[in-house]
Amino acid sequence: MSSCSFVMFGATGDLVRRLLMPALYNLAATGLFPDRCALVGVAREKLSSDTFRRSLVDALREYLRAAFDSRVADRLLASVHYVRGDIDSPRTYASLANLLVAIEDHRPSPADRLFYLALPPMTFATVATSLAAFGLTAERGGAGWRRVIVEKPFGVSLDSARALDRELADVLGKHQLYRIDHYLGKASVQNIQTLRFGNGIFEPVWNRDHIDHVQITVAETVTVERRGRFYDATGALRDMVPNHLFQMLAAIAMEPPSRFDAVSVHRAKAELLDAVRPGSDGDVQANVVRGQYRAGAIGAANVPAYRDAPYVDAASSTETYVALKLRVDTARWTGVPFYLRTGKALSRTRAEVAITFKRSPTMMFSEKQAERLMANVLVLEVAPDEGVGLRLNAKSPNPSLTVGGVDMRFSFRDYFDAVRAVGYEKLIHDCMMGDATLFQSAGMVEAGWRAVAPFVDAWAESAGHDPFPYPAGSEGPPEADALLARDGRAWRPIEQEGAR
Ligand SMILES: NC(=O)c1ccc[n+]([C@@H]2O[C@H](COP(=O)([O-])OP(=O)(O)OC[C@H]3O[C@@H](n4cnc5c(N)ncnc54)[C@H](OP(=O)(O)O)[C@@H]3O)[C@@H](O)[C@H]2O)c1
Repeated sequence: MSSCSFVMFGATGDLVRRLLMPALYNLAATGLFPDRCALVGVAREKLSSDTFRRSLVDALREYLRAAFDSRVADRLLASVHYVRGDIDSPRTYASLANLLVAIEDHRPSPADRLFYLALPPMTFATVATSLAAFGLTAERGGAGWRRVIVEKPFGVSLDSARALDRELADVLGKHQLYRIDHYLGKASVQNIQTLRFGNGIFEPVWNRDHIDHVQITVAETVTVERRGRFYDATGALRDMVPNHLFQMLAAIAMEPPSRFDAVSVHRAKAELLDAVRPGSDGDVQANVVRGQYRAGAIGAANVPAYRDAPYVDAASSTETYVALKLRVDTARWTGVPFYLRTGKALSRTRAEVAITFKRSPTMMFSEKQAERLMANVLVLEVAPDEGVGLRLNAKSPNPSLTVGGVDMRFSFRDYFDAVRAVGYEKLIHDCMMGDATLFQSAGMVEAGWRAVAPFVDAWAESAGHDPFPYPAGSEGPPEADALLARDGRAWRPIEQEGAR
Protein backbone atom coordinates (compact mmCIF):
# COMPACT_ATOMS: atom_id res chain seq x y z
CA MET A 1 0.00 0.00 0.00
CA SER A 2 1.33 3.47 -0.87
CA SER A 3 -0.08 6.98 -1.16
CA CYS A 4 0.66 9.87 -3.44
CA SER A 5 0.52 13.63 -3.86
CA PHE A 6 0.00 15.18 -7.27
CA VAL A 7 1.38 18.72 -7.10
CA MET A 8 0.34 21.08 -9.88
CA PHE A 9 2.43 24.23 -10.27
CA GLY A 10 0.53 26.75 -12.39
CA ALA A 11 -2.69 25.42 -10.89
CA THR A 12 -4.83 28.36 -12.02
CA GLY A 13 -3.60 28.23 -15.62
CA ASP A 14 -5.19 27.11 -18.86
CA LEU A 15 -3.38 23.78 -19.10
CA VAL A 16 -4.49 22.59 -15.67
CA ARG A 17 -8.08 23.67 -16.14
CA ARG A 18 -8.62 22.65 -19.76
CA LEU A 19 -6.53 19.51 -20.14
CA LEU A 20 -4.99 18.19 -16.93
CA MET A 21 -8.11 18.12 -14.80
CA PRO A 22 -10.21 16.34 -17.46
CA ALA A 23 -7.35 13.87 -17.87
CA LEU A 24 -7.20 13.16 -14.12
CA TYR A 25 -10.98 12.79 -14.08
CA ASN A 26 -10.83 10.30 -16.97
CA LEU A 27 -8.17 8.32 -15.15
CA ALA A 28 -10.27 8.34 -11.98
CA ALA A 29 -13.35 7.28 -13.96
CA THR A 30 -11.52 4.24 -15.29
CA GLY A 31 -9.99 3.37 -11.91
CA LEU A 32 -6.48 4.31 -13.03
CA PHE A 33 -5.94 7.22 -10.65
CA PRO A 34 -5.03 6.22 -7.10
CA ASP A 35 -7.88 6.89 -4.66
CA ARG A 36 -5.55 8.11 -1.95
CA CYS A 37 -3.89 10.76 -4.10
CA ALA A 38 -3.90 14.32 -2.73
CA LEU A 39 -4.17 17.10 -5.32
CA VAL A 40 -2.08 20.14 -4.42
CA GLY A 41 -2.26 23.36 -6.45
CA VAL A 42 0.43 26.04 -6.39
CA ALA A 43 -0.13 29.49 -7.95
CA ARG A 44 -0.01 33.18 -7.11
CA GLU A 45 -3.73 33.90 -6.89
CA LYS A 46 -5.19 34.27 -3.42
CA LEU A 47 -7.42 31.22 -2.97
CA SER A 48 -8.41 29.00 -0.09
CA SER A 49 -8.23 25.23 -0.59
CA ASP A 50 -12.05 25.24 -0.74
CA THR A 51 -12.25 27.87 -3.47
CA PHE A 52 -9.50 26.10 -5.37
CA ARG A 53 -11.46 22.85 -5.14
CA ARG A 54 -14.57 24.61 -6.43
CA SER A 55 -12.58 26.08 -9.32
CA LEU A 56 -11.47 22.56 -10.26
CA VAL A 57 -15.08 21.37 -10.27
CA ASP A 58 -15.96 24.33 -12.52
CA ALA A 59 -13.08 23.43 -14.84
CA LEU A 60 -14.32 19.83 -15.04
CA ARG A 61 -17.85 20.97 -15.81
CA GLU A 62 -16.57 23.29 -18.51
CA TYR A 63 -13.96 21.14 -20.23
CA LEU A 64 -14.89 17.52 -19.66
CA ARG A 65 -15.79 15.85 -22.93
CA ALA A 66 -17.88 13.20 -21.18
CA ALA A 67 -20.90 13.56 -18.88
CA PHE A 68 -19.89 14.90 -15.44
CA ASP A 69 -20.34 12.21 -12.77
CA SER A 70 -20.17 13.82 -9.33
CA ARG A 71 -19.17 10.50 -7.72
CA VAL A 72 -16.02 10.36 -9.85
CA ALA A 73 -15.31 14.05 -9.15
CA ASP A 74 -15.79 13.52 -5.40
CA ARG A 75 -13.35 10.62 -5.46
CA LEU A 76 -10.79 12.62 -7.46
CA LEU A 77 -11.21 15.75 -5.33
CA ALA A 78 -11.42 14.08 -1.94
CA SER A 79 -8.16 15.70 -0.82
CA VAL A 80 -7.50 19.09 -2.44
CA HIS A 81 -5.02 21.65 -1.09
CA TYR A 82 -3.74 24.99 -2.28
CA VAL A 83 -0.46 26.77 -1.67
CA ARG A 84 -0.38 30.43 -2.58
CA GLY A 85 3.05 31.62 -3.59
CA ASP A 86 5.45 32.86 -6.19
CA ILE A 87 7.81 30.27 -7.57
CA ASP A 88 10.69 32.70 -6.98
CA SER A 89 10.00 32.83 -3.25
CA PRO A 90 11.59 30.28 -0.88
CA ARG A 91 8.49 30.65 1.33
CA THR A 92 6.43 28.89 -1.35
CA TYR A 93 8.57 25.75 -1.11
CA ALA A 94 8.71 25.87 2.67
CA SER A 95 4.88 26.00 2.77
CA LEU A 96 4.64 23.20 0.23
CA ALA A 97 7.11 21.05 2.17
CA ASN A 98 5.14 21.52 5.41
CA LEU A 99 1.88 20.74 3.65
CA LEU A 100 3.21 17.56 2.02
CA VAL A 101 4.62 16.31 5.32
CA ALA A 102 1.27 17.00 7.00
CA ILE A 103 -0.62 15.16 4.24
CA GLU A 104 1.77 12.23 4.23
CA ASP A 105 1.72 11.90 8.04
CA HIS A 106 -1.82 10.56 7.83
CA ARG A 107 -1.27 8.26 4.90
CA PRO A 108 0.33 4.91 4.22
CA SER A 109 3.96 4.98 3.17
CA PRO A 110 5.81 5.03 0.89
CA ALA A 111 4.38 8.40 -0.10
CA ASP A 112 5.03 9.15 -3.77
CA ARG A 113 5.13 12.67 -5.20
CA LEU A 114 4.53 13.85 -8.73
CA PHE A 115 5.34 17.51 -9.44
CA TYR A 116 3.70 18.77 -12.62
CA LEU A 117 5.24 22.05 -13.82
CA ALA A 118 2.34 23.61 -15.78
CA LEU A 119 4.31 26.86 -15.81
CA PRO A 120 5.98 29.15 -18.33
CA PRO A 121 8.94 27.16 -19.71
CA MET A 122 11.59 29.64 -18.52
CA THR A 123 10.68 28.76 -14.91
CA PHE A 124 11.38 25.00 -15.02
CA ALA A 125 14.99 25.17 -13.78
CA THR A 126 14.15 27.58 -10.93
CA VAL A 127 11.33 25.37 -9.68
CA ALA A 128 13.26 22.09 -9.96
CA THR A 129 16.26 23.64 -8.19
CA SER A 130 14.08 24.99 -5.39
CA LEU A 131 12.22 21.70 -5.01
CA ALA A 132 15.55 19.94 -4.61
CA ALA A 133 16.90 22.61 -2.23
CA PHE A 134 13.93 22.03 0.08
CA GLY A 135 14.41 18.27 -0.08
CA LEU A 136 11.08 17.80 -1.85
CA THR A 137 12.49 15.60 -4.61
CA ALA A 138 14.84 13.49 -2.45
CA GLU A 139 14.15 9.75 -2.73
CA ARG A 140 16.02 8.70 0.39
CA GLY A 141 15.15 5.86 2.74
CA GLY A 142 12.10 4.30 1.09
CA ALA A 143 10.37 7.68 0.98
CA GLY A 144 8.59 6.78 -2.26
CA TRP A 145 9.31 8.01 -5.76
CA ARG A 146 9.60 11.69 -6.70
CA ARG A 147 9.02 12.57 -10.36
CA VAL A 148 8.86 15.89 -12.16
CA ILE A 149 6.93 16.46 -15.39
CA VAL A 150 7.98 19.50 -17.42
CA GLU A 151 5.85 20.86 -20.22
CA LYS A 152 6.87 21.74 -23.73
CA PRO A 153 8.59 23.67 -25.17
CA PHE A 154 11.79 22.39 -23.61
CA GLY A 155 14.09 25.38 -24.20
CA VAL A 156 13.75 27.72 -27.15
CA SER A 157 16.88 26.63 -29.03
CA LEU A 158 19.51 23.91 -28.99
CA ASP A 159 21.71 25.90 -26.61
CA SER A 160 18.91 26.75 -24.19
CA ALA A 161 17.61 23.14 -24.21
CA ARG A 162 21.11 21.89 -23.39
CA ALA A 163 21.53 24.48 -20.65
CA LEU A 164 18.14 23.54 -19.18
CA ASP A 165 19.09 19.87 -19.27
CA ARG A 166 22.30 20.60 -17.41
CA GLU A 167 20.47 22.62 -14.76
CA LEU A 168 17.87 19.90 -14.29
CA ALA A 169 20.49 17.15 -14.25
CA ASP A 170 22.22 18.95 -11.37
CA VAL A 171 19.17 18.55 -9.15
CA LEU A 172 17.19 15.58 -10.50
CA GLY A 173 18.11 12.01 -11.37
CA LYS A 174 17.57 11.07 -15.05
CA HIS A 175 14.83 8.70 -13.93
CA GLN A 176 12.98 11.56 -12.17
CA LEU A 177 12.56 13.87 -15.17
CA TYR A 178 9.67 13.42 -17.61
CA ARG A 179 9.55 15.79 -20.61
CA ILE A 180 5.97 15.64 -21.75
CA ASP A 181 4.51 16.18 -25.21
CA HIS A 182 0.86 15.34 -25.05
CA TYR A 183 0.76 14.43 -28.73
CA LEU A 184 2.53 11.24 -27.69
CA GLY A 185 -0.39 10.48 -25.41
CA LYS A 186 -2.87 10.46 -28.26
CA ALA A 187 -4.08 7.02 -29.27
CA SER A 188 -3.78 7.93 -32.96
CA VAL A 189 -0.13 8.98 -32.61
CA GLN A 190 0.76 5.84 -30.64
CA ASN A 191 -1.09 3.89 -33.31
CA ILE A 192 1.36 5.05 -36.00
CA GLN A 193 3.89 2.50 -34.72
CA THR A 194 1.30 -0.26 -34.57
CA LEU A 195 0.02 0.60 -38.02
CA ARG A 196 3.52 0.57 -39.51
CA PHE A 197 5.07 -2.34 -37.70
CA GLY A 198 2.03 -4.44 -36.83
CA ASN A 199 0.60 -4.70 -40.36
CA GLY A 200 2.58 -6.62 -42.95
CA ILE A 201 1.20 -4.57 -45.84
CA PHE A 202 2.73 -1.22 -44.97
CA GLU A 203 6.42 -1.64 -44.18
CA PRO A 204 7.37 -2.97 -47.65
CA VAL A 205 5.98 0.21 -49.27
CA TRP A 206 7.08 2.63 -46.53
CA ASN A 207 9.97 4.17 -48.44
CA ARG A 208 11.08 6.42 -51.28
CA ASP A 209 10.25 3.81 -53.94
CA HIS A 210 6.53 4.03 -53.16
CA ILE A 211 5.87 7.25 -51.26
CA ASP A 212 5.66 10.52 -53.19
CA HIS A 213 5.52 12.90 -50.24
CA VAL A 214 4.25 13.36 -46.69
CA GLN A 215 2.17 16.23 -45.29
CA ILE A 216 1.90 16.89 -41.56
CA THR A 217 -0.71 19.42 -40.46
CA VAL A 218 -1.62 20.81 -37.06
CA ALA A 219 -4.24 23.49 -37.72
CA GLU A 220 -6.02 25.21 -34.84
CA THR A 221 -8.98 27.56 -34.74
CA VAL A 222 -7.84 28.83 -31.34
CA THR A 223 -6.15 32.20 -31.34
CA VAL A 224 -3.36 33.30 -29.05
CA GLU A 225 -6.11 34.17 -26.52
CA ARG A 226 -4.42 35.42 -23.32
CA ARG A 227 -1.12 33.55 -23.87
CA GLY A 228 0.45 36.54 -25.65
CA ARG A 229 3.27 37.01 -23.18
CA PHE A 230 4.60 33.52 -23.81
CA TYR A 231 3.55 33.18 -27.43
CA ASP A 232 4.86 36.50 -28.73
CA ALA A 233 8.34 35.55 -27.58
CA THR A 234 8.02 32.04 -29.00
CA GLY A 235 5.99 31.86 -32.23
CA ALA A 236 4.46 28.95 -34.10
CA LEU A 237 7.72 27.31 -35.13
CA ARG A 238 9.20 26.99 -31.65
CA ASP A 239 5.86 26.36 -29.98
CA MET A 240 4.75 23.49 -32.21
CA VAL A 241 7.34 22.13 -34.63
CA PRO A 242 10.21 20.64 -32.57
CA ASN A 243 7.64 18.94 -30.36
CA HIS A 244 4.15 18.08 -31.69
CA LEU A 245 4.94 18.01 -35.42
CA PHE A 246 8.30 16.30 -34.97
CA GLN A 247 6.71 13.65 -32.74
CA MET A 248 4.51 12.70 -35.66
CA LEU A 249 7.37 13.00 -38.14
CA ALA A 250 9.56 10.74 -36.00
CA ALA A 251 6.84 8.11 -35.60
CA ILE A 252 6.18 8.11 -39.36
CA ALA A 253 9.76 8.05 -40.52
CA MET A 254 11.92 6.34 -37.86
CA GLU A 255 13.53 2.97 -38.45
CA PRO A 256 11.91 0.10 -36.54
CA PRO A 257 13.27 0.03 -32.97
CA SER A 258 14.59 -3.32 -31.77
CA ARG A 259 12.14 -3.19 -28.85
CA PHE A 260 9.27 -0.98 -27.72
CA ASP A 261 11.07 0.18 -24.61
CA ALA A 262 12.10 3.71 -23.70
CA VAL A 263 15.78 3.35 -24.66
CA SER A 264 15.18 1.74 -28.08
CA VAL A 265 12.29 4.01 -29.09
CA HIS A 266 14.06 7.18 -27.94
CA ARG A 267 17.19 6.17 -29.84
CA ALA A 268 15.28 5.43 -33.08
CA LYS A 269 13.42 8.75 -32.90
CA ALA A 270 16.49 10.82 -32.04
CA GLU A 271 18.40 9.24 -34.96
CA LEU A 272 15.58 10.09 -37.32
CA LEU A 273 15.32 13.69 -36.12
CA ASP A 274 19.09 14.00 -36.51
CA ALA A 275 18.62 13.35 -40.23
CA VAL A 276 16.05 16.15 -40.77
CA ARG A 277 17.24 19.07 -42.97
CA PRO A 278 15.65 22.00 -44.83
CA GLY A 279 14.00 20.63 -48.00
CA SER A 280 16.70 21.89 -50.34
CA ASP A 281 20.23 23.11 -49.82
CA GLY A 282 21.22 26.70 -50.35
CA ASP A 283 18.45 29.15 -49.69
CA VAL A 284 16.86 28.02 -46.42
CA GLN A 285 14.22 30.76 -46.71
CA ALA A 286 12.88 29.10 -49.87
CA ASN A 287 11.78 26.16 -47.69
CA VAL A 288 9.72 28.08 -45.18
CA VAL A 289 6.71 30.41 -45.10
CA ARG A 290 5.77 32.40 -42.03
CA GLY A 291 2.32 33.90 -41.54
CA GLN A 292 0.52 36.04 -38.99
CA TYR A 293 -3.23 36.33 -38.65
CA ARG A 294 -5.10 39.54 -39.16
CA ALA A 295 -8.68 40.28 -38.15
CA GLY A 296 -11.24 37.89 -39.58
CA ALA A 297 -14.04 35.54 -38.60
CA ILE A 298 -13.95 31.95 -37.42
CA GLY A 299 -17.43 30.55 -37.85
CA ALA A 300 -19.76 33.21 -36.47
CA ALA A 301 -17.12 34.78 -34.22
CA ASN A 302 -15.22 37.90 -35.21
CA VAL A 303 -11.56 37.60 -34.33
CA PRO A 304 -9.27 40.61 -33.79
CA ALA A 305 -5.81 40.64 -35.36
CA TYR A 306 -2.96 38.89 -33.54
CA ARG A 307 -1.26 42.26 -32.97
CA ASP A 308 -4.36 43.42 -31.07
CA ALA A 309 -4.35 40.44 -28.68
CA PRO A 310 -3.52 41.03 -25.00
CA TYR A 311 0.22 41.07 -24.16
CA VAL A 312 1.21 41.04 -27.87
CA ASP A 313 3.46 43.77 -29.25
CA ALA A 314 1.39 46.03 -31.55
CA ALA A 315 4.14 45.77 -34.19
CA SER A 316 4.91 42.09 -33.52
CA SER A 317 6.57 40.12 -36.30
CA THR A 318 6.05 36.78 -34.50
CA GLU A 319 4.63 34.08 -36.75
CA THR A 320 1.31 32.46 -35.86
CA TYR A 321 1.59 30.15 -38.87
CA VAL A 322 4.53 28.31 -40.34
CA ALA A 323 4.88 25.96 -43.31
CA LEU A 324 8.10 24.07 -43.94
CA LYS A 325 9.54 21.81 -46.58
CA LEU A 326 11.93 19.30 -45.03
CA ARG A 327 13.90 16.34 -46.20
CA VAL A 328 15.01 13.33 -44.21
CA ASP A 329 18.53 12.31 -45.15
CA THR A 330 18.27 8.55 -44.71
CA ALA A 331 18.40 5.80 -47.31
CA ARG A 332 14.69 5.16 -46.79
CA TRP A 333 13.57 8.72 -47.44
CA THR A 334 16.00 10.24 -49.93
CA GLY A 335 14.03 12.36 -52.40
CA VAL A 336 10.76 12.29 -50.44
CA PRO A 337 9.70 15.79 -49.33
CA PHE A 338 8.04 16.23 -45.94
CA TYR A 339 5.78 19.29 -45.83
CA LEU A 340 4.81 20.50 -42.36
CA ARG A 341 2.40 23.31 -41.43
CA THR A 342 0.84 24.58 -38.27
CA GLY A 343 -1.07 27.72 -37.40
CA LYS A 344 -3.51 29.47 -35.13
CA ALA A 345 -6.83 31.16 -36.01
CA LEU A 346 -7.31 28.90 -39.03
CA SER A 347 -10.62 27.82 -40.51
CA ARG A 348 -10.71 24.49 -38.74
CA THR A 349 -9.03 22.45 -36.04
CA ARG A 350 -7.37 19.56 -37.75
CA ALA A 351 -4.25 17.50 -37.07
CA GLU A 352 -3.21 14.75 -39.43
CA VAL A 353 -0.45 13.04 -41.30
CA ALA A 354 -1.15 12.38 -44.98
CA ILE A 355 1.10 9.99 -46.86
CA THR A 356 0.70 10.26 -50.62
CA PHE A 357 1.85 7.23 -52.58
CA LYS A 358 3.26 7.29 -56.09
CA ARG A 359 0.73 6.78 -58.85
CA SER A 360 0.44 3.42 -60.53
CA PRO A 361 1.09 3.09 -64.27
CA THR A 362 -2.14 3.88 -66.11
CA MET A 363 -1.53 2.74 -69.70
CA MET A 364 -4.43 0.25 -69.61
CA PHE A 365 -6.90 3.08 -68.92
CA SER A 366 -8.14 5.61 -71.42
CA GLU A 367 -6.67 9.09 -71.20
CA LYS A 368 -9.88 10.39 -69.64
CA GLN A 369 -10.02 7.59 -67.07
CA ALA A 370 -6.35 7.98 -66.25
CA GLU A 371 -6.98 11.65 -65.47
CA ARG A 372 -9.58 10.66 -62.91
CA LEU A 373 -7.32 8.19 -61.14
CA MET A 374 -5.95 9.68 -57.96
CA ALA A 375 -2.84 8.93 -55.97
CA ASN A 376 -3.47 6.69 -52.96
CA VAL A 377 -3.36 8.71 -49.76
CA LEU A 378 -3.12 7.20 -46.29
CA VAL A 379 -4.38 9.73 -43.74
CA LEU A 380 -3.65 9.30 -40.06
CA GLU A 381 -6.18 11.56 -38.35
CA VAL A 382 -5.14 12.91 -34.95
CA ALA A 383 -7.68 15.68 -34.31
CA PRO A 384 -10.53 16.44 -34.00
CA ASP A 385 -11.34 12.78 -34.71
CA GLU A 386 -8.82 10.01 -34.37
CA GLY A 387 -8.76 7.44 -37.12
CA VAL A 388 -7.19 6.22 -40.32
CA GLY A 389 -8.40 6.83 -43.88
CA LEU A 390 -7.19 5.42 -47.16
CA ARG A 391 -8.04 6.85 -50.55
CA LEU A 392 -8.38 4.21 -53.21
CA ASN A 393 -9.51 4.31 -56.81
CA ALA A 394 -12.66 2.39 -57.61
CA LYS A 395 -14.91 1.72 -60.54
CA SER A 396 -18.37 3.18 -60.20
CA PRO A 397 -21.17 0.59 -60.41
CA ASN A 398 -22.46 1.48 -63.84
CA PRO A 399 -21.91 -0.23 -67.18
CA SER A 400 -19.26 2.21 -68.40
CA LEU A 401 -15.76 2.09 -66.96
CA THR A 402 -15.95 5.21 -64.79
CA VAL A 403 -13.28 5.41 -62.13
CA GLY A 404 -12.61 7.77 -59.27
CA GLY A 405 -11.37 8.16 -55.70
CA VAL A 406 -13.20 6.55 -52.76
CA ASP A 407 -12.44 6.75 -49.08
CA MET A 408 -12.04 3.82 -46.63
CA ARG A 409 -12.13 4.94 -43.03
CA PHE A 410 -11.64 3.56 -39.55
CA SER A 411 -12.46 5.67 -36.49
CA PHE A 412 -11.16 4.97 -33.00
CA ARG A 413 -14.53 6.11 -31.70
CA ASP A 414 -16.32 3.29 -33.49
CA TYR A 415 -14.03 0.60 -32.13
CA PHE A 416 -12.75 1.75 -28.78
CA ASP A 417 -14.00 3.81 -25.87
CA ALA A 418 -11.34 6.42 -26.60
CA VAL A 419 -13.66 9.33 -26.98
CA ARG A 420 -13.16 10.73 -23.47
CA ALA A 421 -9.39 11.01 -23.68
CA VAL A 422 -7.63 14.39 -23.94
CA GLY A 423 -4.21 12.83 -24.52
CA TYR A 424 -2.68 13.41 -21.09
CA GLU A 425 -4.24 10.36 -19.43
CA LYS A 426 -1.83 7.75 -20.71
CA LEU A 427 1.20 9.97 -20.09
CA ILE A 428 0.27 10.79 -16.49
CA HIS A 429 -0.47 7.14 -15.85
CA ASP A 430 2.81 6.05 -17.45
CA CYS A 431 4.73 8.59 -15.37
CA MET A 432 3.11 7.25 -12.21
CA MET A 433 4.11 3.74 -13.33
CA GLY A 434 7.69 4.93 -14.05
CA ASP A 435 7.49 4.25 -17.81
CA ALA A 436 9.19 7.02 -19.85
CA THR A 437 8.76 5.45 -23.32
CA LEU A 438 6.20 8.03 -24.44
CA PHE A 439 8.11 10.99 -23.05
CA GLN A 440 10.83 12.90 -24.82
CA SER A 441 14.47 12.07 -24.24
CA ALA A 442 17.19 14.75 -24.14
CA GLY A 443 18.48 13.37 -27.45
CA MET A 444 15.09 13.81 -29.15
CA VAL A 445 14.71 17.35 -27.85
CA GLU A 446 18.20 18.33 -28.97
CA ALA A 447 17.78 16.77 -32.42
CA GLY A 448 14.47 18.64 -32.81
CA TRP A 449 16.05 22.01 -32.03
CA ARG A 450 19.01 21.22 -34.29
CA ALA A 451 16.61 20.52 -37.16
CA VAL A 452 14.77 23.86 -36.85
CA ALA A 453 17.92 25.90 -36.17
CA PRO A 454 18.62 26.71 -39.87
CA PHE A 455 15.19 28.35 -40.14
CA VAL A 456 15.57 30.32 -36.93
CA ASP A 457 19.06 31.46 -37.99
CA ALA A 458 17.83 32.49 -41.43
CA TRP A 459 15.06 34.59 -39.86
CA ALA A 460 17.51 36.21 -37.49
CA GLU A 461 19.59 37.27 -40.51
CA SER A 462 16.55 38.78 -42.21
CA ALA A 463 15.24 40.51 -39.08
CA GLY A 464 12.51 43.03 -39.79
CA HIS A 465 10.75 40.89 -42.41
CA ASP A 466 7.13 40.63 -41.37
CA PRO A 467 5.34 37.30 -41.73
CA PHE A 468 2.78 37.09 -44.55
CA PRO A 469 -0.68 38.18 -43.38
CA TYR A 470 -3.67 35.85 -43.49
CA PRO A 471 -7.22 36.54 -42.33
CA ALA A 472 -8.37 34.69 -39.19
CA GLY A 473 -10.65 31.88 -40.32
CA SER A 474 -8.71 31.18 -43.53
CA GLU A 475 -6.41 28.27 -44.43
CA GLY A 476 -3.24 30.36 -43.91
CA PRO A 477 -1.26 32.68 -46.18
CA PRO A 478 -1.45 31.98 -49.95
CA GLU A 479 2.36 31.99 -50.03
CA ALA A 480 2.25 28.60 -48.26
CA ASP A 481 0.45 27.18 -51.29
CA ALA A 482 3.31 28.32 -53.49
CA LEU A 483 5.74 26.24 -51.39
CA LEU A 484 4.07 23.07 -52.71
CA ALA A 485 2.92 24.42 -56.09
CA ARG A 486 6.58 24.85 -57.00
CA ASP A 487 6.95 21.06 -56.67
CA GLY A 488 3.70 20.41 -58.59
CA ARG A 489 1.85 19.52 -55.38
CA ALA A 490 -0.88 21.06 -53.21
CA TRP A 491 -1.81 21.04 -49.54
CA ARG A 492 -4.78 18.95 -48.59
CA PRO A 493 -7.54 21.43 -47.76
CA ILE A 494 -7.84 21.84 -43.99
CA GLU A 495 -11.61 21.65 -44.38
CA GLN A 496 -11.37 18.25 -46.03
CA GLU A 497 -12.88 15.17 -44.39
CA GLY A 498 -11.26 11.72 -44.49
CA ALA A 499 -8.65 10.68 -47.04
CA ARG A 500 -10.08 12.26 -50.18
N1 LIG B 1 -2.52 25.61 -22.42
C1 LIG B 1 -2.23 24.67 -23.28
O1 LIG B 1 -3.06 24.26 -24.09
C2 LIG B 1 -0.87 24.03 -23.28
C3 LIG B 1 -0.65 22.91 -24.10
C4 LIG B 1 0.60 22.30 -24.08
C5 LIG B 1 1.60 22.81 -23.28
N2 LIG B 1 1.36 23.91 -22.50
C6 LIG B 1 2.45 24.39 -21.64
O2 LIG B 1 2.00 24.37 -20.29
C7 LIG B 1 2.60 25.41 -19.54
C8 LIG B 1 1.50 26.24 -18.91
O3 LIG B 1 0.70 26.79 -19.94
P1 LIG B 1 -0.71 27.49 -19.66
O4 LIG B 1 -1.34 27.65 -21.00
O5 LIG B 1 -1.45 26.80 -18.59
O6 LIG B 1 -0.23 28.93 -19.16
P2 LIG B 1 -1.11 29.98 -18.32
O7 LIG B 1 -2.55 29.83 -18.60
O8 LIG B 1 -0.45 31.30 -18.55
O9 LIG B 1 -0.88 29.51 -16.81
C9 LIG B 1 0.38 29.62 -16.19
C10 LIG B 1 0.23 29.29 -14.73
O10 LIG B 1 1.51 29.47 -14.12
C11 LIG B 1 1.36 30.35 -12.99
N3 LIG B 1 2.56 31.16 -12.83
C12 LIG B 1 3.20 31.89 -13.76
N4 LIG B 1 4.26 32.52 -13.22
C13 LIG B 1 4.25 32.17 -11.90
C14 LIG B 1 5.07 32.51 -10.78
N5 LIG B 1 6.12 33.33 -10.92
N6 LIG B 1 4.78 31.98 -9.59
C15 LIG B 1 3.71 31.14 -9.42
N7 LIG B 1 2.90 30.80 -10.44
C16 LIG B 1 3.17 31.31 -11.65
C17 LIG B 1 0.20 31.23 -13.38
O11 LIG B 1 -0.32 31.84 -12.24
P3 LIG B 1 -0.66 33.41 -12.26
O12 LIG B 1 -2.07 33.49 -12.69
O13 LIG B 1 -0.43 33.82 -10.89
O14 LIG B 1 0.29 34.09 -13.25
C18 LIG B 1 -0.73 30.18 -13.99
O15 LIG B 1 -1.35 29.44 -12.96
C19 LIG B 1 3.48 26.17 -20.54
O16 LIG B 1 4.77 25.64 -20.46
C20 LIG B 1 2.88 25.82 -21.89
O17 LIG B 1 3.81 25.92 -22.93
C21 LIG B 1 0.15 24.53 -22.48
